[in-house]
This record gives sequence, C-alpha cells and structure tokens, in this order.
Amino acid sequence: DARSPDRLRSPIVCILGHVDTGKTKILDKIRKTNVQDGEAGGITQQIGATFFPLDAVKRETSKLALGRALEHNIPALLIIDTPGHESFTNLRSRGSSLCDIAILVVDIMHGLEPQTMESIELLKQRKTPFIVALNKVDRLYDWKAKPMTPVIEALPAQKRHVQDEFKRRLAETKVAFAELGFNSEVYWENDDVRGQVSLVPTSAISGEGIPDLLYLLVSLTQNLMRDRLMWTTHVECTVLEVKMIEGLGTTIDVILTGGTLKEGDTIVVCGLDGAIVTTVRALLTPHPMKEMRVKGQFLRHGSIEAAQGIKISADGLDRAVAGTQLLITEDGGSEEELDLLRDEVMKDFATILTAVDKSGLGVYVQASTLGSLEALLSFLKSSNIPVAGLNIGPVHKKDIVKASTMLERKKKEYATVLAFDVPVEREARELAEELDMRIFTADIIYHLFDQFTAYMDDIRE
Ligand code: GTP
Ligand code: MG
Ligand code: NA
Repeated sequence: DARSPDRLRSPIVCILGHVDTGKTKILDKIRKTNVQDGEAGGITQQIGATFFPLDAVKRETSKLALGRALEHNIPALLIIDTPGHESFTNLRSRGSSLCDIAILVVDIMHGLEPQTMESIELLKQRKTPFIVALNKVDRLYDWKAKPMTPVIEALPAQKRHVQDEFKRRLAETKVAFAELGFNSEVYWENDDVRGQVSLVPTSAISGEGIPDLLYLLVSLTQNLMRDRLMWTTHVECTVLEVKMIEGLGTTIDVILTGGTLKEGDTIVVCGLDGAIVTTVRALLTPHPMKEMRVKGQFLRHGSIEAAQGIKISADGLDRAVAGTQLLITEDGGSEEELDLLRDEVMKDFATILTAVDKSGLGVYVQASTLGSLEALLSFLKSSNIPVAGLNIGPVHKKDIVKASTMLERKKKEYATVLAFDVPVEREARELAEELDMRIFTADIIYHLFDQFTAYMDDIRE
C-alpha cells in the first residue's frame, strides 16, 4: 500500500465511560446540538459518529496559547460516541477497536465506576492511548460558570473552597488510577505524556475544559501517532448500522478508518443469507458537526477519504448485518477474489450463531443490529435464558412462525419473541395474537428482560 509520510488522515477518537458520565453531552456541547435530549431513557444505545472539521476544532483550541502555537496537521477529527450502560460491552469494544485514541469520561463527583474499569480494560488490551475528561466540574459546590473557556483559566478563577474540593476529588481520582496501574496528572502539569495519563476537568453543561480537551486530542495524535495516522490507500471499513431510509431504501452506515471509498466501487458485506456483493450507488454523510445516528439531511460525495462516518446506498443491502467489516475490490474483482472476500466477511456472523442453544429450545431474539443482538444475547446468557432462534431487522410473520415451533414442543414460555429496537409488522402481530404468543418489544435492553422474566413467573405459577 502506498503510504504518504507528509500526509495524515483524520484521527478517530472514541468516547468511553460509565453510564451518564456525560459522554454524549460533551459532544453536544462541541457540536451545539441536543442529541442527548432525544435519547430513549437518556441513555445511548448505539455507536454514533461525528465529523469535526479542522476549522471548528481550531476555533476552540485557539482559545489556548498552547493551541495558537500548535500547527494543525490533521485534516479533521472523527469522534465516536459509545453507550456506557452495562449491557453494551460489545459496542464499547467495537468503538474502542475502531479508534486511535480515546476520551475516558469520569464523573468527578463519582470517581471510577464499573464501566470505567471495563473501558480501561478494553483500552489496555489494545494498548490504545487515552485521556480522561473529569466531567461535571460545574457540580462542585459553588462553581461559577465560565462558558466554553479553557479550564486552566476557569479553575484558578474559582473561590478557594471550590478549588479545595476540586483538589480533594482530583487526588482521590489519581489514587484510583494508580491502583489500576496508571500514573495520571492534570494535563497542564503532565510533563510525560507517554508515561502518564492526562486529566482534563470539563463541564459538558457550561463548556469549561472543552478547548483544552480538543487541544490535547490534536497535539497528542499529531505528535505521538504520526506513524499510525500516515495516509495509506488501503481501505478499512466497518458496518455500524443497517437502516431503511425513505427514498433510498436499505442503506448501511459505515466507519471508514482507512483509504478512500468511491461511488461505483464494488463492495462485499456480511449478509444474513450469505455475503452480499453490490455496487456503491451513493456515498452520503451528515453535515459536519452532526451526529450520524440522528435523522437529518445528507451530503452526497463522489469519493470520501478516511476517517469518516458514511451512509452507503446500494442495491441488495436488505439483509446486511451490522458490526461486520466491509471489503472492496477494484474494477469489480475476479470470481476467485470475490470468493475470498465473501468468506472473509462471513466470519463474524458464524461466531454469533454459536449463541443459539443446541437443544433447540429457547426464545426467539430479534434486534436492529448485530451489535445490539450480541448485547441482548450476552444479557440473556448471563440470565440463563436459552435462545433457539435469532434474526436482525423488523419482526415479520415468518419470525413468528419460527418462534411458534416452541408451542409444538410444549414450551409455551419460550414461544416468545424478544424484539429490541425493531418494529413489528402488523401481520406478525396478528399471527402472534392468533397463536396466543407474546412479542416483547423495548427500546431499552434490560426492559425486555424484565418483561420476559415477569411473564415466565406468571406462566410457571
Ligand atoms: P450514556 O451514553 O447513556 O452512557 O450516558 P452519557 O455518558 O452519554 O451521559 P449523558 O450525556 O447522557 O449525560 C447524562 C446526564 O448527565 C444528563 O442528564 C446530562 O445533562 C448530565 N450531564 C452531563 N454532563 C454534565 C456536566 O458536565 N455537568 C452537569 N451538571 N451535568 C451533566
Ligand atoms: Mg451517551
Ligand atoms: Na446517558
């Protein structure tokens, strides 16, 4: 692959952390959006992506003398948002596997929490460098807001007792990190950025520390990760979501982490009924600074370079599976080459099928993506609820037919469909009613579990 030492691609940043520490809110603050308010239950349940052009980044970093002195060599930042709820380990894992650097968000009032630890484990496993946003500093008693200012200005401007509370909580956090084997230091006192984790106090509500956070991302990626960020032509791409869009049909949302995608490229993706080979009809992105997982207007591109979150429109994507890699071939590819690519993309899917119970007895599980299906499956496994069948996408009549085989096997409690984040077709609902079967639907994963266990208890009484 051709590498260009003088040219860097956009770094991919992943936001990780315990539930409700303010990951999405931090992005909202930079984007000037309100994505978090629109989330079911106020929790993130999907991976998101937002493209931050250099201009927008510079606007913030230039509020710092250090930022003004910095040459900005990267073209942009692509920031990936992940869920903090415990059910979504797989999505945190996927997010962290896609990124070059991570922001670990810690609620300064709570310190390190279970999914903080889990996130650290993921980062350790992949040796991914990370910085820590010590968020919610505005919650320190008597904090006076200094909207969108560098925290190195906002903190010294606070009253003595506010600074004291900050110091006390900071010291506790550093001890907690030390116990996990990490030295850490507030970034302005960190003189060993390779050896010590940088801490940035932030508020996603009033915006203190946001300029500092962006400054660190730019300087650390440019200075420490040049080699990794060097431009290459090799295409690397992951399917995040499969979505029906009016006027476009079924589309896939992907993260392009390397190389260039072009309209007309032949792509190979994992499908429920085998590999899908198709041609890119349109490459679409949301506007810069808009979250990809939120409905909105799209911009069309003839070609797109990494890193970017992209919606791909193409024929035959109906049965595509999210959470898998996308491969491309130049000039349509020979049959031999396509066969190799087909085998390659189907590997991930083979893994998930091992979750199905060998006895053939169990519930029928349906979810919007391979990612959320995995989350649901691991949740059910830890609760000892067997799974006999699974599918991705809307619940159709044929899913009910499959699930109804449990009635013949005299396992009424298993003749149920657990549907996460997917619509149920009217015909499916009617058939279920006719057969006296239950379809549980929820847009929060653990609600499904609660409904199902209540139902099991009912039946068994
Ligand atoms: P999940 O994605 O569900 O894991 O949560 P999250 O980490 O994205 O947190 P989210 O952005 O949903 O924020 C959770 C709650 O904390 C919301 O009510 C926010 O308004 C609040 N919040 C986030 N950041 C701050 C902050 O800096 N200060 C204060 N006071 N509240 C905050
Ligand atoms: Mg969130
Ligand atoms: Na939340």
